[in-house]
Amino acid sequence: MPLVTTTEMFKKAYEGGYAIGAFNVNNMEIIQGIVEAATDEKAPLILQVSAGARKYANTVYLKKMVEAAVETSGLPIALHLDHGDSFELCKDCVDSGFTSVMIDASAHPFAENINITKQVVEYAHDHGVVVEAELGKLAGVEDDVKVDAKDASYTDPDQVQEFVEKTGVDSLAIAIGTSHGAFKFKGQPKLRFDILEEVGRRLPGFPIVLHGASSVPQEYVKLINQYGGNMPGAQGVPEEMLRKAASMAVCKINIDSDLRLAVTATIREHFALNPAHFDPRQYLGPARDAVRKVVRHKIVDVLGCNGKA
Ligand code: G3H
Ligand code: 13P
Ligand code: ZN
Repeated sequence: MPLVTTTEMFKKAYEGGYAIGAFNVNNMEIIQGIVEAATDEKAPLILQVSAGARKYANTVYLKKMVEAAVETSGLPIALHLDHGDSFELCKDCVDSGFTSVMIDASAHPFAENINITKQVVEYAHDHGVVVEAELGKLAGVEDDVKVDAKDASYTDPDQVQEFVEKTGVDSLAIAIGTSHGAFKFKGQPKLRFDILEEVGRRLPGFPIVLHGASSVPQEYVKLINQYGGNMPGAQGVPEEMLRKAASMAVCKINIDSDLRLAVTATIREHFALNPAHFDPRQYLGPARDAVRKVVRHKIVDVLGCNGKA
C-alpha cells in the first residue's frame, strides 16, 4: 500500500469516536519505535515532519524512511507537514510526495489566514494532497514554533464555518488551552471543552485537530531530573481529557514532547547505569523501545485507534 491521505482515516475516526495519533519524527529510531507500536496494535498512523525536522534530518531522508515504514508495516500511513508557515514550504512538501500538509497561518489576521490557507488548499487539492489549517493560537515553544502565552488565544467558534467554507480546508486545528512543549499548565490543567463542543456543533462531521497534546509522563520527568536534567514543574494534558477530546470531534492528536521525554530519560538513565558504553546502538536501541512503549500506550489507552488499520 502506498502512503495515504488522512481522508478515510478521519472519516472512520469521526464516526467511531476515536482519534489518530500524529507523531513527530526526526530520526530513524523514532520512526521505527512508532511504526513498531502501530504494527503491534494494527493502528493507522500519521507521521509528521516539522520545518525543524526537515532542517535537522533532511526531508529526503525522512521521506525515504517513512516509505520504508510503509513497505515494512503495510499500515495506512500519512506523511504530513507539521506547522508549514508559508505557501512555498507547503508546495515543496506537496511536490516531494507528502500526502498531507498543515498551513499554519494562525499568526496572521483572520482574512489573511483565509487567503494563505486557500492558496495552499488549491495547490494541494490539485495534487491529491489534503490540508490542515489553524484558527486561534496555541502557546508554547519548540524549535521553529514559538508563541508567548500573552499572544495565545482561544479559537472563536463564530469564525470556524466561514473559515472552512472560504478555504475548503480538510481539517482544522483549534486552540482550547493546550500548548506545545513539556510545560503546559502552571496550576490545574484546564481545557475549554465548551469551545470544542461548539465548534463540533458548527461543523458537523468535520475533523478537528488537537496540537500540544503530550501528557508529559511523570515517570520520564522524574528520571530526567534524577539523572542530571532539570525539568521541575513539567506538566502535560491529563489523559482523560485527551480521551474525551477523541470521543468528540477531534480526529487527530499531535504528540511530540512525550517522545522527546521518553528518548531523553532513557538515554540519561542508560549512561548513568552504563557509563562505559560508547556504541550508539547501546543507547539508541533502548530509546527506540521507549518510543514504542509510549506510542503503544497512546494508541491503546488514549486514542482508541488500535485495530482500526
Ligand atoms: O509543534 C511543533 C512540533 O512539536 C515540532 O517541533 O519545530 O521543534 O521540530 P520542532
Ligand atoms: P506536544 O509538544 O504537546 O507534543 O505537541 C506537539 C504538536 O502539537 C506538534 O504539532
Ligand atoms: Zn503543533
